[in-house]
Amino acid sequence: MSNTAQRANKLFVQTFGTTADDLYRAPGRVNLIGEHTDYNDGFVLPAAINFHTIIAVKQRDDDKFRAVSDAFPGKIHTWHFGHEGTTDPDDTWVKYLKGFTAAVCASGLPAKGMDLAVVSNVPLGAGLSSSAALELAFGTALNDASQLRLSPLAVAQMAQRGENQYVGCACGIMDQMISAMGEEEHALLIDCEDLDSEPVPIPESLSLIIVNSNVPRGLVDSEYNLRREQCEQVAEHFGVESLRHLDLRTLENAKEELPEVCYRRARHVLSENRRTQNAAHALEAGNIARLSELMAQSHQSMRDDFEITVPEIDKLVEIIDAVVGDRGGVRMTGGGLGGCVVALVDHDLTDAVVEAVERQYHTATGLEASVYLCSASQGASRQDEELY
Ligand code: GLA
Repeated sequence: MSNTAQRANKLFVQTFGTTADDLYRAPGRVNLIGEHTDYNDGFVLPAAINFHTIIAVKQRDDDKFRAVSDAFPGKIHTWHFGHEGTTDPDDTWVKYLKGFTAAVCASGLPAKGMDLAVVSNVPLGAGLSSSAALELAFGTALNDASQLRLSPLAVAQMAQRGENQYVGCACGIMDQMISAMGEEEHALLIDCEDLDSEPVPIPESLSLIIVNSNVPRGLVDSEYNLRREQCEQVAEHFGVESLRHLDLRTLENAKEELPEVCYRRARHVLSENRRTQNAAHALEAGNIARLSELMAQSHQSMRDDFEITVPEIDKLVEIIDAVVGDRGGVRMTGGGLGGCVVALVDHDLTDAVVEAVERQYHTATGLEASVYLCSASQGASRQDEELY
């Protein structure tokens, strides 16, 4: 049994004085390219990673939930299905679970309560979707225990609804969908308009490296929601439902009609959609030089047009790019304003990348980076074999 699973079991027994019935696991994610495109009905190319959240659960006969997490010890959170109340500051992590049950209730489905213990090794607040991992592990458990008969995609949509309506973050579908549907050794090209998805193999010759800048992330939700509003403002200006239905030429021709900042936001989204589709083709064809170019352009666009990078992240990208050249790609990943960079590089370069980060990042920024060597992994599931 994995270490995380053992810890979840142990926490369950210590908290509730009995053993759990089941274990559920859901991964965090890294986005290879396609940033802030999901809520504009565009394209994303994420992969689920081998960092995950595990929940030990036991179904109850009533509608009560009792939840404990080893990252926030000493407090058992309790609520009743359909009576989640409003979020309070004490709800740091449990709001994601309450959001899920609130969304299930709002959609008219009945559910039974559960006791549950949460353990995770997804770095918190690093832009690797620890919240989606939590939602999907919990949602998949509730789906089974209460026989809701939701598909993995429907569980992901329910989680997104909870986050939008209960938690108050206007996130898109990417994080929940990849945590639900990720595949080993593959990224997933998702068309966020119709939610079609296509697995794209990650060539064996490449290492998937994530580097956490460890920049404290502030104002993330408000800046995120602001970006979303700016994109919607541009769509409204052109009378289209979303930026997916706008092309670059129309945007360029009407540049003067828009506030300059909104023009740049939209230019990022439209160009990023194109890059994401091209990157999926490049990855599929093993054309690493092309992938390298597209990831570099994506980073510049996030830095200059969407303005979601910070100097420390730009530095990390610069350090890694100098080692890798066209034998791999590197860019910031996730919502931004801190967080991580992702690099897909020729195996032979892995050690050189790690050394360069260790040698140069601290000197340049005063911060220590954390390096995670990852592999693309499977989406949320029950872990039968892992119980005891
Ligand atoms: C966060 C959101 C996603 C997506 C990314 C940016 O992770 O939860 O829906 O918008 O930011 O690409």
